[in-house]
Amino acid sequence: MRLLVTGGCGFIGSNFIRYVLREHPGDEVLNLDKLTYAGNPANLRDLAGDPRYRFARGDICSREDVENAMDWGPDAIVNFAAETHVDRSIVDPEAFLVTDILGVFRLLEACRERGVRLVHISTDEVYGSIEKGSFTEESPLRPNSPYAASKAGGDLLVRAYVRTYGVDAVIVRSSNNYGPYQYPEKVIPLFITNLLEGRKVPLYGDGSNVRDWLYVEDNCRAIDLVLRKGRTGEVYNVGAGQERSNLELTRSILALMGLGEEKIAWVPDRPGHDYRYSVDWSKVRELGWEPRVTLEEGLKRTVEWYRENRHWWEPIKSGEFRTYYLERYGEI
Ligand code: NAD
Ligand code: TYD
Repeated sequence: MRLLVTGGCGFIGSNFIRYVLREHPGDEVLNLDKLTYAGNPANLRDLAGDPRYRFARGDICSREDVENAMDWGPDAIVNFAAETHVDRSIVDPEAFLVTDILGVFRLLEACRERGVRLVHISTDEVYGSIEKGSFTEESPLRPNSPYAASKAGGDLLVRAYVRTYGVDAVIVRSSNNYGPYQYPEKVIPLFITNLLEGRKVPLYGDGSNVRDWLYVEDNCRAIDLVLRKGRTGEVYNVGAGQERSNLELTRSILALMGLGEEKIAWVPDRPGHDYRYSVDWSKVRELGWEPRVTLEEGLKRTVEWYRENRHWWEPIKSGEFRTYYLERYGEI
């Protein structure tokens, strides 16, 4: 297959490109990425020189950039390009509305004109928070952050383009991912790298909020399956069955790194902080997918990766991220 991967220099996109080229040696990938603060060409440095991989810097909101990429003749687009961090969406929502809604519209228009399949990567956050039980793909969308609302807007456009124009599109809504190459603004890499730097970890509120932690490679396998076998117009939830409160998660990271709870800095809660995300993933299981990596195993691998790849995250933490972080927490 010829795949146009958008946002492939980010966390999940870069893991996905590496996964696809490993699992499907005959595939080719064009990666279209704007290289925002979250996009890092170093995430795919190991593919330099691979004739099956090429990169184009461009914006999914630009008709011209998308047209140029479509001229390459992809069989499908897999869209990871997005603004993705809830906390940043609370401070400055506009970029989220632009990329996560208008950008999806541009890709849908291109798919409509050229009859190309779209796999749109979304999130469980579009359903909002749930105290008990799990959301199915039929559950209503009740987003609570500007990030989640923008992602929900993109998802609704995908639905409309399938129904109105017959565009061949599917949506994947996964739970929280973690693993190598995740930008250290998200909780797991932030906590691991803070601890490696000798800092504390800023835990929001009382640490009772719950997330279901999906190892990124498990998600890449699910996305690849939906790309090849998912039914047009359908949504597929992807979860891991690895729910933990943030305090439990923090304790696991501390234990793996041989540190104690004095390293926790309790900080004020996030506004509108969703208590719990949980999705029912029986539909993607019917396609033949199961998560393989437990949180214990995945965290071990992830701590190891950040330990061994300081050259990857140290420039990030001393660059763009430092200003962002210092404004929030000072020298925690
Ligand atoms: P990320 O923030 O690490 O990377 C986003 C990438 O998109 C970056 O490379 C960035 O440069 C690029 N990008 C941003 N705006 C763009 C634009 N206008 N045009 C082209 N490229 C642009 O994100 P991630 O964590 O890898 O998430 C990827 C997708 O998965 C997102 O759609 C996100 O909503 C979804 N998702 C993420 C998680 C998670 O836990 N990380 C969970 C569920 C769903
Ligand atoms: P995050 O990684 O930002 O993902 P999301 O908000 O999309 O789920 O946060 C995961 C959980 O960790 C969430 O409940 C908020 C919490 N959190 C902290 O306690 N401290 C932090 O510094 C961050 C970034 C998140």
